[in-house]
Amino acid sequence: MNDLTPTREQRTAALEGMGCKRKRVEDIRFTQGKGSYVDDLKLPGMLHGDFVRSPHAHARVKSINSEAALKVPGVLAVITAETLKTVNLAWMPTLAGDVQMVLADGKVLFQNQEVAFVVATDRYAADDGINKVVVEYEPLPVLIDPFKAMDKDAPVLREDLAGKTSGAHGPRKHHNHIFEWTVGDKDLTDAAFRKAEVTIKEMISYHRTHPSPLETCQCVCSFDKIKGELTIWGTFQAPHVIRTVVSLIAKLPEQKIHVISPDIGGGFGNKVGAYPGYICAAVASIVTGKPVKWVEDRIENLTATSFARDYHMTAEIAATKEGKVTGLRVHVLADHGAFDACADPSKWPAGFFNIVTGSYDFPTAHLVVDGIYSNKAPGGVAYRCSFRVTEAAYCIERAMDILAQKLGIDPAELRLKNFVKPEQFPYHSALGWEYDSGDYHTAMRKMMETVEYAGLRKEQAEKRAAFKRGETREIMGIGVSFFTEIVGAGPSKNCDILGIAMFDSCEIRMHPTGAGIARVGSKSQGQGHETTWAQIIATEIGIPADNIMVEEGNTDTAPYGLGTYGSRSTPVAGAAIAMAARKIKAKAQMIAAYKLEVHEDDLEWDIDGFRVKGLPEKTMSMKDICWAAYNSVPPGMEPGLEAVSYYDPPNMTYPFGAYICVMDIDVDTGVYKVRRFYALDDCGTRINPMIIEGQVHGGLTEAFAIAMGQEIRYDEGGNVVTGSFMDFFMPTAVETPHWETDFTVTPSPHHPIGAKGVGESPNVGGVPAFSNAVNDAFSFLGSTHIQMPHDYWRNWKAAKALGAVAA
Ligand code: CDP
Repeated sequence: MNDLTPTREQRTAALEGMGCKRKRVEDIRFTQGKGSYVDDLKLPGMLHGDFVRSPHAHARVKSINSEAALKVPGVLAVITAETLKTVNLAWMPTLAGDVQMVLADGKVLFQNQEVAFVVATDRYAADDGINKVVVEYEPLPVLIDPFKAMDKDAPVLREDLAGKTSGAHGPRKHHNHIFEWTVGDKDLTDAAFRKAEVTIKEMISYHRTHPSPLETCQCVCSFDKIKGELTIWGTFQAPHVIRTVVSLIAKLPEQKIHVISPDIGGGFGNKVGAYPGYICAAVASIVTGKPVKWVEDRIENLTATSFARDYHMTAEIAATKEGKVTGLRVHVLADHGAFDACADPSKWPAGFFNIVTGSYDFPTAHLVVDGIYSNKAPGGVAYRCSFRVTEAAYCIERAMDILAQKLGIDPAELRLKNFVKPEQFPYHSALGWEYDSGDYHTAMRKMMETVEYAGLRKEQAEKRAAFKRGETREIMGIGVSFFTEIVGAGPSKNCDILGIAMFDSCEIRMHPTGAGIARVGSKSQGQGHETTWAQIIATEIGIPADNIMVEEGNTDTAPYGLGTYGSRSTPVAGAAIAMAARKIKAKAQMIAAYKLEVHEDDLEWDIDGFRVKGLPEKTMSMKDICWAAYNSVPPGMEPGLEAVSYYDPPNMTYPFGAYICVMDIDVDTGVYKVRRFYALDDCGTRINPMIIEGQVHGGLTEAFAIAMGQEIRYDEGGNVVTGSFMDFFMPTAVETPHWETDFTVTPSPHHPIGAKGVGESPNVGGVPAFSNAVNDAFSFLGSTHIQMPHDYWRNWKAAKALGAVAA
């Protein structure tokens, strides 16, 4: 070896593989304004569509008159439910097994529901046309409060379901009931409660909120009448599923549908489902023979295109006097809005909410979820969380704090006492999951040491004494949260969407010069897949990440995948990438053996190529193998170096984390100051620590928004009162607290590279940390539970109700 021969460290560093803080390659175009989004697309002769929407939350549609609209210069067509009926598309199936109106058919069921679609030569003409469509409504009684949905005299919302005593998920108990889902052992759980020394019971609401990505939902549909082909560019988190759905409902052959998701400006679950805009733009294009663009505005996105949460969870814990939990009972009232359009795997009407036992060793548990209809927008998307997991984490983390308060035990100590122990993994939870791996005690203790937890509690005691003496008007809250996520849907035995198993895929093609392209079934919405997927391949096959181009989102070129949501990309697509790379490596080994004139078994892998065992100078680099793959493969072997993998994971992955929030609240104004927020995450093997940190920062900011103010709120008449960013809390850098991040590494035993997902974790763990901090502060004044969101006004009201505000 001479001085110029790179060292092993230099060879490893040159790959920029896993563990490297590689800079995001996609940012080169994003930071220069060179991203390519749906609204950047301008096709010759392109038309624009926009919706007439209902001002009422519940009303009969007596008539729709389009005459005046059609006279507006530029307006070409007004599509209504009657038009759609001629092509059998007035209603569409939802992912949850329900049906949903595409355009109002006889009645409207939520404010801003789509009533008619105006097609015009430009967006302004379409808007002018909307204002000229005359719709006659007959208002009906409105149902907003989920607790009144199953009252005897509650208004009948879904007249189309009249007489249907069962739905996609079993029997219906009431005309506004969708499903009842039960998990766990009722008898054993009831017995645990009968024997319990201590019990707690609390109704814990997770309010309705919205993912509100920077870029709203949009599409361009272009039907080629000659070829009979439909091309759809759209903001789709799952383009292949969209292609299949379009094929099924529009009865077009799947090979004649091309779905392309270009750059996407954030998804957070909002861009998983199929919306009326997609159907109407496609129909309009088929009818006019021209491309049709539909782009939502912000108010439409917030009020009509999906929502998240709206779960009302009554949690009960049974425990011993010493604080050992013995049973968990949870009932959920799940408000799904006007149609059940939740984006969950088919068999899971309440997603993976049965992860509600959290990180604790509950010997027994029982869960009942009742889904109901209301006059609110449909959706129920996985907003930065795996299906309904953030609701479950919030429920159990609040309940554990309430138990700690009742027992007078420190909340962190109570958690340590009840954690699943490292030796119990794989751990079978009382509600049916098999947790793959975890080391909760180490994570919790690391968090407690880093923030000097004991010191914080001492300071809090001193502040409380000072408050009592009238020396301060601030109360201090310490919010501990420890969450277990469940991500990576999923094993095909458990999870499907419309009957398609939830696997994912990767195809790698290595070119002769040692560069390659990887096409993946996932679809980044800003998570940095182009950067990290290349890092996995770099480590696996010893080709620098810079030499691997990653492509996602085009159904014509990418292998079939189920898309990106619920942090499934790394657990499922990430695994497919590693497996495809290993197939490349296996063929490469045969080629190297042939070229080096040894048996394959005499070769060993060494960073970026193979070397002959015992003869370290006899090597062949992966780059050279790529060249050989195109000119001198062993006799009988096909030339080329390509592989594809469809990966069906054997289990989900279970990331976890320990978070803490320290907050001061002024009781006279309700103003809070987040003094410190520390987040320790364990997502197994870390592919790119810098991207992980970015994911955690983003997720924590969303958690902060949700816990401290963000809400889709309705008045009694069903009007959305937080329908724009004037009222819907969207934090900027000014309000956002400083985040401290940390980690432990507990690899997933079944994932090829040991990685678990991370993108959702900070939202899942962050919300309970904030809420526990507020509740911990107010517990000192005698309160048990204050519902989110904890904005200044509500904090002030809570302080007043607890008698802490001067008259
Ligand atoms: O499905 P989604 O991409 O939203 O979530 P994810 O699998 O949690 O990945 C989010 C980003 O973090 C991706 O760019 C991953 O490659 C990266 N990540 C990582 O670097 N290491 C992990 N163990 C998990 C995710």
